[in-house]
Amino acid sequence: MNDAPVLYEKAGDGIAWVTLNRPEVLNALNMRARDELWNIMQAVAADSEVRALIFRGAGERAFSAGADISEFGTAPSFVEARRARRERDLWWLMLTQEKLLVAAIHGYALGAGIELAMCCDFRIASDEVRIGLPEVSLGYIPSAGGTQTLPRHLPPGVAMQMILTGDPIDAETAYRHGLVHRVVPRERLYAEAETFARKVVARPAELVALSKRAVYEGAEMSLGAAIALESTLVERAILAR
Ligand code: COA
Repeated sequence: MNDAPVLYEKAGDGIAWVTLNRPEVLNALNMRARDELWNIMQAVAADSEVRALIFRGAGERAFSAGADISEFGTAPSFVEARRARRERDLWWLMLTQEKLLVAAIHGYALGAGIELAMCCDFRIASDEVRIGLPEVSLGYIPSAGGTQTLPRHLPPGVAMQMILTGDPIDAETAYRHGLVHRVVPRERLYAEAETFARKVVARPAELVALSKRAVYEGAEMSLGAAIALESTLVERAILAR
């Protein structure tokens, strides 16, 4: 058995799978796993053979139950821990990635688990998923981007309720509010994720990258500035033909 905390596998035709691989602790993300994810994201950005990444969790119980609780409080100092996070900001690296990122989530998707999925472009969930941000009930606040990404996907009141209570939501609620884009039976999860990824991979890489920039960067601008950004990107799209 491969005991690496994260598995990376190129499946051909532009698709690669990233498997969170600590099923005995519900794929909790420890420091080693985050370092591995950082390395994978760097490698993928430079690898023209890979056009789409699909994230999934090993085992039947969870996509990921979040940050590894056993590592809480083990950093040499709080300041050190924050600096390490800033220098290797995995979540921002994912949010600014040009290639397609898909999260195929099942079982528990808690804390950094769902935060990782929210750094992806597309979230497909199995119908038994449980999604929550329990940090406040543990004496923290979400720190993998969740306080910012959750209200960008959900109505602010629903996001605030999830953050302040820590109560998980089910697949139907997540779908109704748009946090996940599709819900499927568990046995179809990976096939559906792959079908979607293949459809996008069939489009020109440059246009996928430009579209992602237009949507994500534009969302942070005034409408006028965003339309100007779109014009610039349209010119690049024409030149790329
Ligand atoms: N970090 C480290 N270990 C974790 C973990 C986490 N975030 N989540 C689960 N585990 C471990 C458990 O300690 C347990 O290990 P053990 O078998 O050695 O005792 C194993 O995974 C299975 O979890 P368990 O709690 O026994 O399963 P359960 O079905 O009773 O409960 C959860 C499932 C998800 C409700 C529960 O594990 C949980 O609340 N986990 C923590 C979630 C969390 O707070 N994450 C966010 C951190 S910010």
